Amino acid sequence: MGSQWGRDKVYQKAMKQGYRSRASFKLKEILEKNLVLRPHDNVVDLGAAPGSWLQILKENTSGMIVGIDLNPIQPLEGVTTFTGDFSKPRTVARVLELLPVVNLVVCDASPKLSGHKSYDQARSIDLNKMALDFAIQVLCPGGNLVMKSFQGEDFPWIYRKVKEEFFRVTTHKTHSSRKGSTEIYIIARNFIAGREDLFDEESEEVITPENNGSS
Ligand SMILES: C[S@@+](CC[C@H](N)C(=O)[O-])C[C@H]1O[C@@H](n2cnc3c(N)ncnc32)[C@H](O)[C@@H]1O
Repeated sequence: MGSQWGRDKVYQKAMKQGYRSRASFKLKEILEKNLVLRPHDNVVDLGAAPGSWLQILKENTSGMIVGIDLNPIQPLEGVTTFTGDFSKPRTVARVLELLPVVNLVVCDASPKLSGHKSYDQARSIDLNKMALDFAIQVLCPGGNLVMKSFQGEDFPWIYRKVKEEFFRVTTHKTHSSRKGSTEIYIIARNFIAGREDLFDEESEEVITPENNGSS
């Protein structure tokens, strides 16, 4: 049974296996059940802290991986991370600078919860829209998007928006989501359009596999 602090069995299992959070098992399951990541794909992880999805991505691709979060992410060998808000144009520009091609965008971002269900749901859908906009700007034609969402009255709206941009869209509810959770993952495959050209305005400090001192 899940506890308020997340120190449940799934959490303990994740720690034992060296993962940074219980969320690792969600992405593991999604990748096992959905063909969204090929062995050499480049990936961007939005809302990546503390980094367990980055760990799973590292196990599943030899391509380049970039993780972005509002909070700092502890360095991880072979992964580039930086602190930023993925809704900002300069974050998009930074990613386009770092990666020549983006094959997959994953997003497990959550807003700070207020406890008011309908408000929190609306904020989550706002984040989804931002993640979709980000993906539209960076993905290569045929690229994929995996994005956490929440079932509720606004969910059909974001689901429709995603369907306008990808040829194949489904949903996935993971076994390791907490009991009673409305959390659901949108799995969008085969992006219809190409990446837009964006120019960087500002430069930020970026941790790369070369400069993070861990390799
Ligand atoms: C549930 S955690 C992600 C866990 C992560 N997938 C892992 O496996 O370690 C959600 C994260 O989303 C981040 N986040 C929320 N809004 C964001 C934004 N606009 N830009 C970047 N990160 C954001 C939060 O800071 C938080 O760290």
